[in-house]
Amino acid sequence: MKLWEGRFSAPMSADADSFNESLSFDKKLYQADIAASVAHATMLGEQNIIAPQEAQAICDGLKEILAEIENGTLAVAGAEDIHSFVEGELVRRIGDAGKKLHTARSRNDQVATDMRLYVRGSIDGAIALLRDLTETLLTRAHESLRYIMPGFTHLRKAQPITCGQYFLAYAEMFLRDLDRFSALRARMNVMPLGSAALAGTSYPIDREITRKLLKFDEISQNSLDAVSDRDFVAEYAFNASLVMAHLSRLCEDTILYTSDEFGYWTIPDEYSTGSSIMPQKKNPDLPELVRGKTGRVYGHLLALLATLKGLPLAYNKDLQEDKEGFFDTETTLFSCVSIYTALMKKMKLNVNVMYEAAGGGFSTATDVADYLAKKGVPFRDAHAITGKLVRYCIDKKTTLDSIPLSVFQEMSHVFEKDVLAVVTVRVSAEGRNSVGGSSQEAARKNLYSVRRRLKKY
Ligand code: ARG
Repeated sequence: MKLWEGRFSAPMSADADSFNESLSFDKKLYQADIAASVAHATMLGEQNIIAPQEAQAICDGLKEILAEIENGTLAVAGAEDIHSFVEGELVRRIGDAGKKLHTARSRNDQVATDMRLYVRGSIDGAIALLRDLTETLLTRAHESLRYIMPGFTHLRKAQPITCGQYFLAYAEMFLRDLDRFSALRARMNVMPLGSAALAGTSYPIDREITRKLLKFDEISQNSLDAVSDRDFVAEYAFNASLVMAHLSRLCEDTILYTSDEFGYWTIPDEYSTGSSIMPQKKNPDLPELVRGKTGRVYGHLLALLATLKGLPLAYNKDLQEDKEGFFDTETTLFSCVSIYTALMKKMKLNVNVMYEAAGGGFSTATDVADYLAKKGVPFRDAHAITGKLVRYCIDKKTTLDSIPLSVFQEMSHVFEKDVLAVVTVRVSAEGRNSVGGSSQEAARKNLYSVRRRLKKY
């Protein structure tokens, strides 16, 4: 039985019905749908659009349906979509009063409201998970503030950095993601209910009542826009895409750093996988999967943007296509952030390997050039002199921190004994003490700053 079949002389064919249906996926909206219907019925009763007893019967019936879906005694099946299912079930239970629920309402403002409620809850879920992840990174940063590791550009060793600063870089990214989700929550908490099919309604509804009941901050001001606006779903998809981009970079670092060639980190056995043929292998499947899933989250964003493009005002059934992509985005985002939080909590840091590696690749060469420049040599000349020193080390197969002072002085008389400390990785990392730099002190300030900004969430 369809909500709209009065106008038709033949029932919908089975193939058309199954193509058209959305219950198989929009049943996830059942809580939102029932909450919105309870608010709507309450308002209809308070405004005397329907009798208060009828409103009461509707609300009681809806709550019963909710309880039965939650405890598994009522299977959500056999209707076109979640809205038809709930209404049909209500009418089956309470009869004619149930048929009044849809007064002054359309499935168009109903689905727009349901999606807002669901996405709002999902934003709160994303914020909680991102907070955990950022806190985990803060903990790792705190315990590794004094450790030294190589910093890279172009995936070539560039300068020694503190490990603390490394983890804080990711904390900054996820903090921006938190900001984005929280700004989205504030922007999207606007109620479309009361827009009806597209143009509002002639019933004396009071949208303030439903707004308060559903905890929206504002009421939409244009019904044509309100029923067809899915910007908030697209923004969610974009925010999720950027989280995945950040996670995927962390995955890439993880895969490299845990390889035999790098050996900086070790993935704990509980989070590793093996090979079915090569007995010696320990594979980074989890980071690879998270990196891989990033593509499908981007895909959902692009699919939705393409769906929204070119839709004539107001509601069009194309909008039903927002849901599967959104639900998959949510599930993927939540599972990836959760697994990475667990993984980062347990990741073993091979402090000595990182320290040894930090000295490779002449990573303190910039410090040598800076040393000369600070003593009055123009930086360009200092760069050239240091370049020659590096050349010398390459030819002699030695390193900057192993050559004697006499070699330095052959290249420039400005070098004095203190240069021998400058070329060590610790002095190098600790020397970069500018705000936001890699020294322990600067990284500690960064840590306090991230911790303070995280408190908001
Ligand atoms: N399942 C539909 C959706 O997701 C519900 C709204 C149906 N509205 C309509 N006019 N057919 O968008």
